[in-house]
Amino acid sequence: MNPQERIAELTERLNYYNHQYYQNSVSEVDDYTFDQLLTELTELEKQYPEFRLADSPTVRVGGTISKEFATVYHRFPMLSLGNTYSEDDLIEFDKRVQKGLNGQSYEYVCELKFDGVALSLTYENGVLVQGATRGDGVRGDDITNNIRTIRTVPLRIREKQEEPRDEQNVQLSLFAPSSFLSSPSIPALFEVRGEGFLPLAEFDRINKEREDIGEPLLANPRNAASGTFKQQDSSAVARRRLDCYIYSFLSDPEVFQTHEESLVALKQWGFNVSPTWRKCTDIREVMQYINEWEEKRFTLPLGTDGIVIKINRYDQQRELGYTAKSPRWAIAFKYKALAASTVLKGIRYQVGRTGAVTPVALLSPVLLAGTTVKRASLHNANEIERLGVMLNDTVFVEKGGEIIPKITGVDLNRRTDQSVPIVYPTTCPACGTPLIRKEGEANFYCPNERGCPPQRQTRFEHFIQRRAMNIESLGEGKIELLIERGLVETPADLYDLTADQLLGLQKTFVDRDGGSEDSGKQRVVSFREKTVENILTAIERSKAQPFANVLFALGIRYVGITTAEKLADYFGSMDAIMQASQETLLAVPDTGPRIAESIVAWFADEENRTFVERLRAAGLQFVGEKKVVEPEGDTLAGKTFLYTGTFANFSREELEARIAANGGKLLSGVSKKLNYLIVGENAGPSKVEKAQKLNVPMISEDEFLAMLDV
Ligand code: IVH
Repeated sequence: MNPQERIAELTERLNYYNHQYYQNSVSEVDDYTFDQLLTELTELEKQYPEFRLADSPTVRVGGTISKEFATVYHRFPMLSLGNTYSEDDLIEFDKRVQKGLNGQSYEYVCELKFDGVALSLTYENGVLVQGATRGDGVRGDDITNNIRTIRTVPLRIREKQEEPRDEQNVQLSLFAPSSFLSSPSIPALFEVRGEGFLPLAEFDRINKEREDIGEPLLANPRNAASGTFKQQDSSAVARRRLDCYIYSFLSDPEVFQTHEESLVALKQWGFNVSPTWRKCTDIREVMQYINEWEEKRFTLPLGTDGIVIKINRYDQQRELGYTAKSPRWAIAFKYKALAASTVLKGIRYQVGRTGAVTPVALLSPVLLAGTTVKRASLHNANEIERLGVMLNDTVFVEKGGEIIPKITGVDLNRRTDQSVPIVYPTTCPACGTPLIRKEGEANFYCPNERGCPPQRQTRFEHFIQRRAMNIESLGEGKIELLIERGLVETPADLYDLTADQLLGLQKTFVDRDGGSEDSGKQRVVSFREKTVENILTAIERSKAQPFANVLFALGIRYVGITTAEKLADYFGSMDAIMQASQETLLAVPDTGPRIAESIVAWFADEENRTFVERLRAAGLQFVGEKKVVEPEGDTLAGKTFLYTGTFANFSREELEARIAANGGKLLSGVSKKLNYLIVGENAGPSKVEKAQKLNVPMISEDEFLAMLDV
């Protein structure tokens, strides 16, 4: 098979697996095989960029960078919806519809109102060619490369999905592009609209990771989604696992008679349509839908803040028309925030890995949106002050998009002389060390990094996590037991453990968590033969974890896995990083003063260095593949560059590194100061236009390579 055919086959096959996995929850191949096929495709595309297909799944991992997003005009304006908050308003809406339709019969389609970011996707001949934000409704930002990273957004649509089949017997013909678009019902050009969002579980995962490395937490899933879509580096977007529900279809001429038909077809074509929609024959059924979802919506994977009610028939939608801002054929019903009042019984102060002490409110159990709430987040000391809340106060708790409810206010009318001020601890609740508060930070910290039990415990948890040393078989109380029995003090001690020490260890833990659902539950942790074997194998295997993961495992504040990967690529070894000055560290892509300072301070500490040396002695990977070129010369000295699009020979980091390694300077935008704009594939039109206007020379990738003279 020639490379072009192989690229086509791999593209089709991987897209199919992706579709099965993300849309139908069917895993037809194991991760390993999938990754192998993807690597093969990535390599082939690098070698033969001319054969790369528009729907190549390699775009899912990102890699393009846009210094600015091009502006795009929406072919159909992106309007907003009128809001209602009561049944009466809804009945008024229904009356207006009735009147507008002059007594014709009509139906509604109800959907959840997803809380995310409105997106518009354009498909030409079945291929996703553009993805844009709403912007001001008339024009938005072209964020196509970011949208392509969403696994559930089809890069190419197919009329019907194939039946699941045996991966070994995959035939090329089944995946051939000719099997697409066989039906005339898919128009050559159409647009779909939907809501891009960060699933709640993903939001929690990201925040856990941020907490782990001491980064400030993301405020809520909606802002997090909106911030992510505007990231200029699409591989950063890819890491955040955004998702998107499609809720409307637009084409000219119209293809479907009703909204319902379009939702069914969209689903069939492989779009991610939330199955929560329902056709309702009258406003009473709409009310039922509203009531039904008021609590049930909290079981969905994303935040929702209401219901959208739409007239089903498109001809009737047209007849009803629009006001200046919104359609007359649709309306949003917003749920009142679900709130309850209860008594604040106490505060528990939790100590995290980085020593941050955070308060958690312990509440008298109260029923909220179908679950019993006993705890609420209070974020930090500032929040307690902002709310003016006292112990034994009656407080309001609300369930928003987030999983843990929050305290939103105090019922001052019910404050009695039982209420007492909350005195924030001045010493660590776990080890008694006086707390400190760093300049500009909302949290108090326990500085006893090594002696403080929860800090020690979470330091181990950080070390064993999958992206670090991947010894997760040591989770769930096992580390706690090893520490308690004095078998380990630092994670380096794990490498000295023997089967004899572990076999037979056992302890019954009683969860003392005052707030959680399973408070008081018992857990038995025991090291049986099989467990010990698994643990020791995992410890041994961890010695092969790549250098970047080892660097992350050290637990340096602000050094998350992505930063660790960039540092590893740049320096190539632990020794090089240990010797690096702050200035040198600042040259690493995306490493700012805060990270650089934290790294230097960490390695300056005697005990940390001993820890590192013990890991070295244990045989962990301290060297990786250096992916950044050394200074090469000064052929570009005094010249300024900017690039747009993607390149066959370089990732953006590599291109930036080559410019820097040869004495050139990278500018952030097109201006008179710019000497060269390097233009790649899918170049941003706004940059090219501006360069033309300012007479800035534009060069191709090959011309740039020629300038390097290597
Ligand atoms: S239909 C003419 N359906 O709500 C507007 N919108 O205020 C048609 N939204 O910006 C929009 N879920 O981002 C529609 N099921 C849904 C929706 C939905 C959320 C958002 C959308 C839009 C805003 C309208």
